[in-house]
Amino acid sequence: MPNRDTLFAAPINKLGDWTFDEQVAEVFPDMIQRSVPGYSNIISMIGMLAERFVRPHTRIYDLGCSLGAATLSVRRNIKVDGCHIIAVDNSPAMVERCRRHIDAFRAATPVEVIEADIRDVEIQDASMVVLNFTLQFLEPDDRQRLLNKIYQGMLPGGILVLSEKFSFEDQQIGELLFDMHHDFKRANGYSELEISQKRSMLENVMRTDSVEAHKTRLHQAGFNHAETWFQCFNFGSLIAVKEDANS
Ligand SMILES: C[S@@+](CC[C@H](N)C(=O)[O-])C[C@H]1O[C@@H](n2cnc3c(N)ncnc32)[C@H](O)[C@@H]1O
Repeated sequence: MPNRDTLFAAPINKLGDWTFDEQVAEVFPDMIQRSVPGYSNIISMIGMLAERFVRPHTRIYDLGCSLGAATLSVRRNIKVDGCHIIAVDNSPAMVERCRRHIDAFRAATPVEVIEADIRDVEIQDASMVVLNFTLQFLEPDDRQRLLNKIYQGMLPGGILVLSEKFSFEDQQIGELLFDMHHDFKRANGYSELEISQKRSMLENVMRTDSVEAHKTRLHQAGFNHAETWFQCFNFGSLIAVKEDANS
């Protein structure tokens, strides 16, 4: 059983900005499961996408890997030889736990867990790149540059999985999906205090985009094909494919 997230159950005097520190890393599996609708579906479907898209002798990048849930799903589903997974996170607490987590399972495909800023990591020979709820934590000005770099380092036929919390241009729909997400968290045992304290801490560090804004960026990076493949309330995931002129 993962450790239960009770980090925000008691009133906190001075709410600072959100960080992925030791305390968060310790309860992260429970926290993300109870806060992100569809998270476990997305993780298992990332495995299905890996089975379909990962090519022999290529690299797979999991950018903002946290404890390595997407990496493990990819690794379980790779059916070809000579691949190498690179999992990157800039939180020392996440990286340390991620390494332990990955080492607990045996598999043919090697995984390298790197403590680094994803903006500084070189992307090369990638047949799959995963940004599972990470892009939203980057400064908005850095997002396009990162997607451009991913596209450049991706092999033709490669796939990017981009999961995010979305904002909506239609205010009524935005409010409805926001309320449904609130209900989801309450149904998962979070109190009003926990929900509101966490929300204020995330306010400055997690800025969301609309699906349309994501698609525009992906197209600008060079991806000819980009579409939402999963959505639950205001959370979802897009796939973007780099065209293969030979297929
Ligand atoms: C919501 S979590 C991602 C969840 C994870 N991908 C999964 O599927 O379980 C966001 C992660 O991105 C990492 N992160 C945020 N900004 C980063 C950056 N600039 N470079 C590297 N990692 C970053 C955080 O430390 C955190 O672990």
